[in-house]
Amino acid sequence: MKNYINYRKVSKPLKFENFTVEIGFGSGDYLIQLAKENRDETFFGIEKSWIPINKLLKKCERENLKNIFCTKLDAYWAFQFLFRDKSVKRIIINYPDPWFKESHKEKRLTTRENLYIYGKKLIHGGAIKIRTDDYLFLNFTLEECRILESFSWKIQTPQVERPLTKYEKKWISMGKTIWELILIKEREPKPMDTRKIREVTALFPVKVDIENLCIEEICHREFKIEESLYLKCFSAWKRDNDYALEALLSEKGYLQAFLVTIKKKDGYFIIDVSKFSEILKTEGIKKSLDFLAKILRKENQ
Ligand SMILES: C[S@@+](CC[C@H](N)C(=O)[O-])C[C@H]1O[C@@H](n2cnc3c(N)ncnc32)[C@H](O)[C@@H]1O
Repeated sequence: MKNYINYRKVSKPLKFENFTVEIGFGSGDYLIQLAKENRDETFFGIEKSWIPINKLLKKCERENLKNIFCTKLDAYWAFQFLFRDKSVKRIIINYPDPWFKESHKEKRLTTRENLYIYGKKLIHGGAIKIRTDDYLFLNFTLEECRILESFSWKIQTPQVERPLTKYEKKWISMGKTIWELILIKEREPKPMDTRKIREVTALFPVKVDIENLCIEEICHREFKIEESLYLKCFSAWKRDNDYALEALLSEKGYLQAFLVTIKKKDGYFIIDVSKFSEILKTEGIKKSLDFLAKILRKENQ
């Protein structure tokens, strides 16, 4: 298996058992070090941007590491889509973005919903290890964790001789105090409502029985299709009688950008997702094609 996992293409959940996950690995040095020291174990890195992913992949190649895998995805969805329940033995989060502002708290990696999904995927006795220089973040994490009644915890201030990561090095050189919070799974988290996305096996093109198309009705517009499903349409390119429309879909907070093609046939149009767009085939995408078709039909009446 290749180091990079394209979560849209693999069969899910992955078959890994008893493995370690690092969320937000940055330069990837810590994950590389762990994987080199434990070649018979499996490590999985999750990052939300490409720069760290590409750095990690280069290092894996240089070191010939076959026991590291990674994907570019928000941590919540990576856990939700990719891992089996009770399969992860350790989760590492080093110096997560603390999202200082009150209004940004929901973006933290340790909201109750995130901790819930980590908890479901951990084996009994499995641990989440978090290092932070931010005391408010630490307190927030503990408050969220208590709600789930799943973890025991300990807090320590590690005496760091060899910094684990770039950020650790930085905070230590600035004389900051560092906290390490270890959450240990004692029981299943208390049930709570979490965001789930349903994948569909196939997406079918949608037929729109109209003679003429009024593309202005959908370009540069935002639509609420239903609760937690929002579609934003940007520009459209026209070639002959066909269009390619840029679209962004937010499905329960999971974002997908793709191109919608609208092609003229004899007396009707066909709406589809461009074959050049790499997407996760979800119910939300299907609904957004149906929704666009409905608007175009209505505008033609
Ligand atoms: C402050 S940096 C710390 C990097 C590294 N762990 C270190 O200590 O040097 C936080 C990292 O977490 C990643 N990150 C933040 N939110 C994330 C999320 N929701 N899912 C995946 N990665 C995330 C960012 O892209 C960034 O690389």
